[in-house]
Amino acid sequence: LRLNQPVFPMSSGGSNSSWIITKYDHVKELLKSPSFIKDQNKLFSQSSREEMNADELNIFQNMMLDVDPPDHTRLRKLVQPYFNPKTIKQLEPRITEIAQELLEEMKHKKGSVDLIDDYAFPLPIIVISELLGVPVEDRNKFRKWSNTIVAASDNMTADFQEDVEAFTAYLTSLFEKRKAEPEEDLISSLLQTAEEEEQLTKAELYSMVVLLIIAGHETTVNLIGNTMFALFEHPEQMSKIKFDQTLIPSAIEEGLRFYSPVDFSTARWAEEDMEFHGQEIRGGDLVLASISSANRDEEKFSHAEQFDVTRSKNAHVAFGFGIHFCLGAPLARLEGKVAIEELLSAFPNIDLNRTMNRPEWKPVFLLRGLSQLP
Ligand code: HEM
Repeated sequence: LRLNQPVFPMSSGGSNSSWIITKYDHVKELLKSPSFIKDQNKLFSQSSREEMNADELNIFQNMMLDVDPPDHTRLRKLVQPYFNPKTIKQLEPRITEIAQELLEEMKHKKGSVDLIDDYAFPLPIIVISELLGVPVEDRNKFRKWSNTIVAASDNMTADFQEDVEAFTAYLTSLFEKRKAEPEEDLISSLLQTAEEEEQLTKAELYSMVVLLIIAGHETTVNLIGNTMFALFEHPEQMSKIKFDQTLIPSAIEEGLRFYSPVDFSTARWAEEDMEFHGQEIRGGDLVLASISSANRDEEKFSHAEQFDVTRSKNAHVAFGFGIHFCLGAPLARLEGKVAIEELLSAFPNIDLNRTMNRPEWKPVFLLRGLSQLP
């Protein structure tokens, strides 16, 4: 596609088309252009917007990822200080402790262990729960709801509806508790902002918490799982990082590029008719950036098809680009680094269980991750 049809019509017919953008330079251009908007409602007439807004509390509709400036700027500013590299760095000792606890459990587990289920999966959910202030004992229900929500390809299933309702009710009661007795966590701080400074509506508050849980979970699971898988597939690269552990951060960057945890950007809509690298895109058309394709673009990366933990100038777009660039990138990078450092120090001879079938990619759109890694 990059060579023959880099601006690819995924579907046409009906009134609007959908496009996939596959070249590195085009992907960056798309992600930073204000002509491609996130808020689809802007494309509708005022009256149909009012109808939609009349809806009851919708915990998905007001996420910063789905809105444009100035709302996006206001929402992002509220949480940005919590995710700066310096602030995030302070979490390193606690992330290390969590990783070590999980590894200890793995050592004592009978039978085979699975790197996804036993390690990559619990680690980020524990970290984000602690950051937000979700009580330890509730983590499992919480995990179930966020899983159903992430996995749902069809939002209308009964299970999905039920879990969304349970999740909303849970958040409502958690917010009440934190309002009565604030703690040193992100939820308490957001509640204060919502109440005192009127910077955050009720719907935005719910959406923010849901976004932080969802955006930071499965993606980080995939980062840990995919990078380890690439290392198992390339034993000579694994030897390099075992010999020199300071290469782990660059192995993480290469993992992000080579097996990008997020395959496609979220949707953007063309605000008006335009020409984009030889194709006529109409106002209202949906446009997606293929992050994994951009990250393998041979015009940008030399030996793009090779997994190379010593790659320098690795300017991948695994965390997106432009104003929606991943808020959690410093956290994801730190979690990935600590996870792999601790794993290799607990199990220096770790290897894939090669007597079993080759691990398989989960059959989902948007995200790229393995179902198991025995
Ligand atoms: C946005 C990837 C981890 C929170 C994004 C985007 C990408 C991405 C590609 C941009 C989507 C677009 O423009 O359509 C990843 C990857 C991760 C990861 C690959 C792990 C390896 C996290 C974590 C958090 C997080 C740990 C927070 C706890 C967010 C938020 C946004 C975002 C809030 C929206 C930012 C905005 O709209 O301004 N992420 N993410 N992500 N990510 Fe991440």
